[in-house]
Parts: sequence; structure tokens; C-alpha cells
Amino acid sequence: MRVHFSIQQLIAGATLAALSALTSLAQAQVPKPNVVVLATGGTIAGAGASALNSATYAAAKVPVDKLLAGLPELANVANVKGEQVFQIASESFTNTQLMTLGKRVSALVKQADVDGVVITHGTDTLEETAFFLNLVVHTDKPIVVVGSMRPGTALSADGALNLLDAVTVAASKDAAGKGVLVTMNDSIQSGRDVVKSVNLKVEAFRSQWGALGFVIEGKNYWFRAPVKRHTAQSEFDIDNINELAPVEIIYSYGNVPRTGFDALAKTGIKAVIHGGPGNGSVADRIVPALQAMRSAGIQVIRSSRVPEGFVLRNAEQPDDKYDWVVAHDLNPQKARILAAVALTKTDDSKELQRIFWEY
Ligand code: DGL
Repeated sequence: MRVHFSIQQLIAGATLAALSALTSLAQAQVPKPNVVVLATGGTIAGAGASALNSATYAAAKVPVDKLLAGLPELANVANVKGEQVFQIASESFTNTQLMTLGKRVSALVKQADVDGVVITHGTDTLEETAFFLNLVVHTDKPIVVVGSMRPGTALSADGALNLLDAVTVAASKDAAGKGVLVTMNDSIQSGRDVVKSVNLKVEAFRSQWGALGFVIEGKNYWFRAPVKRHTAQSEFDIDNINELAPVEIIYSYGNVPRTGFDALAKTGIKAVIHGGPGNGSVADRIVPALQAMRSAGIQVIRSSRVPEGFVLRNAEQPDDKYDWVVAHDLNPQKARILAAVALTKTDDSKELQRIFWEY
């Protein structure tokens, strides 16, 4: 059967083809954002013995150059450069790693030729590092922390898409000014709010206040923005911090003895985070131990081991009377990060409480 096209249809078809070619050419001409990937180790750099080893593997094995080379799709999103800052499992991070990483990120975001920074990281303490950077790096440029729950050698590995999503967000103008972000399993989480809530699933990271958005097929979909102070609005600046204050956590539970509290009091700590049950409850026999710590000049900060909600001041304990601080909605490990940063600037408990309300 012969199909006849009118002259007009032929011209329209040719015009559309030309426009599409010009669009592709124009897109190719638009300079891509520059994103630096700082690699620290973790499962996203892990390797297992077989494709069936999704949970049994060695973390922190694959170098950053190999990670990036294995993801050619990155080139469609940004000009990506990699730096191997560390190669460790994140449970082995110390304050030293936090400080080294924070200063490197701070230096990079000051460079005019850097539009965004991605940090690949183990998932075990990812929430602590993300919150730390959220508090101390002065920039509006996107900083995205990313990890994976399965090594790249496993069936249905999640690291590659998590990393592509992280670079996509770090290269996005609409991610600016939202604080440090975490991209895991299609979601964009706030570095302040996000916690690792499941230890064996790819959907491991969540916030009780919800994700900020999603990144799907290379496009960001935003639904909310952070309300707590962060990054450029923070009163804390990594460039003015040489060492984090010594702050430790002690969990409470039925039958908990004073032993650990009294031992910790003699270690030179500046603050203790009490990870209590319920609304940050403190056992009768432990109250005097915390009061003794406060009398010795140690700040006492009540947090809760319960995953959701927040500790109410003067509810379970008379915080005003004891001169204690409540950690608001921060879990013990995040409360430690904020206290360790805040105590580099103040040792006033009322100022500390203000800081815990605001960050
Ligand atoms: N060892 C853990 C870590 O480096 C592996 C967990 C992971 O990265 O998913 O945090």
C-alpha cells in the first residue's frame, strides 16, 4: 500500500528532526557540573566471594577509581573526580576521621571548580558523619553521603544506583541549601534526620520525619525542606575547630548498675549522653551518678534509645533542677556528635540546650 505524505508533513518531519538534533547538540554544549567523590570505604567498596554473598563480604576493598570506572553513566550527569580519603569500615571511624573528612569537604566546596561533593561511606556510622558535616561545613553547595547495603559483587547490588543518584543530586542546583543529604534506595534523606533502621535490607535508611524527596531515573522530586540550622547557617565551622570535645554514650536498661557511669566520670569527658528507655528515663539508682557527673562539671544530656519521638524536658526528670540537657529528637549517637561540636564553643548548659533545640 503506498503512503502519501503532503509537502507540509514532510517539512514538519524534517523540522522536528533538525530541532531534535539541535537540542542534543545544545545539551552536549552545556558544561556539566563538577562533582568530587570522596571515598572512605564501607560496603559500597566491598567485595564478596560470590554473587550470593549479599551480607557476608569484606568492606572497604574496591578503590574509588574502580568504583567510578564501573559506572560510565556518571559521565552523563557530571564531570566526576575521585579521591580516596580512607579505605575503612565505618564502624572504625574515630573523631580523627570525622575531622579529616570535614576539613577536606570544607576545602573542596570553597573551590569555584567544584559544584558538589559526594562521600561514599560505610552505612554503620553514615548517619553520624552526615550529621557532623551538616553541622560544620559552611556551604550551600550540595554535599551527599552515600553507601550501600550490598557489595557490588552481589546479586541486586544497590551501590551503583545509590552512587549515581548521589552524583545526580550533588550535581543539581535544586539540591543547594538543603543541608547535607543522604541518597539511599531512591530516597533523598536529610543528613540530620536519617538513621540506619534495618541492618540487612536495602531499604535500611529512614527518618521519623520522612524523606526530603526521591531521585528517580536521574530526576529529583522534592517534598519538604529541613527546618533545623545547618551548613551555611551553622554557628559551627570546621575551619575553626581543631578537635572535637570528648563525649561518650552510656545506655540504660533494666538492672543497669552505676559502675559504668562512675568509671566514665573519671575519663575526662566533657559530656555524657544517657541513652535511656522511654522518654529518656533514668533509673532511681542512676540519678545520683548523673548528678555527681554534673557536679564534677560534666554536662548530662538525656537521649532516648526509642527510635521515634523526642525527649521532653522536665517530664521524666526535673532537668531544670538538675541542670541537665535533653537531646530533643536526636538518638544517642547523633546527640554525641552535636555535643562534641557544641562543646568546642560553649560549656554553658543553657546554651547547650538552645543548640539542641536549633540543630
Ligand atoms: N562494616 C560496615 C560499614 O563499613 C558495612 C556496612 C555497610 O557499609 O553497608 O559501615
